[in-house]
Amino acid sequence: MAQDKLWGGRFTQPTDKFVEEFTASIDFDKRLYRHDIKGSMAHARMLGRQGIIPQEDVEKIVHGLQEILDRIDAGEFDFSVSLEDIHMNIEARLSEAIGEAGKRLHTGRSRNDQVALDIRLYLRDEIGEITDFLDRLVNSLLYQAEENLDVIMPGYTHLQTAQPILFSHHMLAYVEMFRRDRGRMEDCLKRTNVLPLGAGALAGTTFPIDREFVAEQLDFPQVTRNSLDSVSDRDFALEFLAASSILMMHLSRFSEELILWSTSEFKFIDLSDGFCTGSSIMPQKKNPDVPELVRGKTGRVYGNLMALLTVMKSLPLAYNKDMQEDKEPLFDTIDTVKGSLKIFADMVRLMRVNAGNMRGAAAKGFSTATDVADYLVRKGMAFRDAHEVVGKAVRYCIEQQKDLPDLSIEEWHAFSPMIGTDISDAITLEASVNARRATGGTALERVKAEIERAKR
Ligand code: ARG
Repeated sequence: MAQDKLWGGRFTQPTDKFVEEFTASIDFDKRLYRHDIKGSMAHARMLGRQGIIPQEDVEKIVHGLQEILDRIDAGEFDFSVSLEDIHMNIEARLSEAIGEAGKRLHTGRSRNDQVALDIRLYLRDEIGEITDFLDRLVNSLLYQAEENLDVIMPGYTHLQTAQPILFSHHMLAYVEMFRRDRGRMEDCLKRTNVLPLGAGALAGTTFPIDREFVAEQLDFPQVTRNSLDSVSDRDFALEFLAASSILMMHLSRFSEELILWSTSEFKFIDLSDGFCTGSSIMPQKKNPDVPELVRGKTGRVYGNLMALLTVMKSLPLAYNKDMQEDKEPLFDTIDTVKGSLKIFADMVRLMRVNAGNMRGAAAKGFSTATDVADYLVRKGMAFRDAHEVVGKAVRYCIEQQKDLPDLSIEEWHAFSPMIGTDISDAITLEASVNARRATGGTALERVKAEIERAKR
């Protein structure tokens, strides 16, 4: 061997130092160590069971791998850049520790199917954590919805006051989004949860391996069906990055609203001090850093999706070294999504709702204009005519600096004789909200039922 590399046999000159650093992935793929070892243990047991390697070697390998796992867990393992990646770092150390037996571990396997296995094992666990964090966030939203069940706020379209809604209804809108995100994560898990090991470098292996046995040990419900695809497929990672991008998009919209609601102009909510920071020059400031950062990190997560899509674009089958570039975007998105969900779950639970300010804002902006039009429709007027009548009433109010509930019955009559004294009851904030009783509407009874449903 020209050098100490596991693949050094056909080389006569050592690798250039910078090339070694440039091509190594150990700095970022070391986080796969636990899954790499788990996969190797399952592979070794299968090799022994099939009589491909001696059973005593299996014992030595499993024991040796366990020791390496403990050393890495304890932070006592020296990772070496010249061993390129996590797979070769562990394998080389194993052979150093147990000799001949260690050198048999890689029988019937390639780093190409090994890395595909490691990423799938790793991502599978992370998706489990992300769905747990999504559940925590949904619980915080339901908590706020129940605590503030009948608080009325303005609902907006075009960020202009539109119609009064319940704050709890607004929280439940995010519950819907995050539940869809959970569904997308679960769906992507189905295609992540497939065993690729056994594909070898690209064509399969000449040894009588038992892939189903490996799948069973590692808890994979399925094995991949084509060796070329097994080592070159990163669709599952792309799906995860796409689902994460949509999830972050939802968090960014929520962030934007929390930031807006925290301004002195809105004052709809107070974020807990623990989630804000001050200014080094302006003593009065309490900045909503957490939602701002999450809004900003959404850009990174979108970028990671674009990065991996572009890495994979036009790659010929099967494995290409380009694919080593899958890891950093994937890991970065996992960390970002988990961190954002965790911090949001806590922040949302601890935020304070200023019911009075929300209600005050809901009463402004002619938010019940549609209710006057609906009132006229119930009295027999066509909706388009009712719209026109109320539009004129609103213009009159603007000129007179009045609100719709301030108008006397005489003033109303000037716009339509169909309007009776019962108009005042029809256009209170409560009446407006509670009239929207159909499935999906903001009526109190409807929102209560949806909270119960979401809890089930
Ligand atoms: N570090 C490599 C990666 O992450 C492992 C697979 C290497 N395979 C190879 N034929 N060079 O993709």
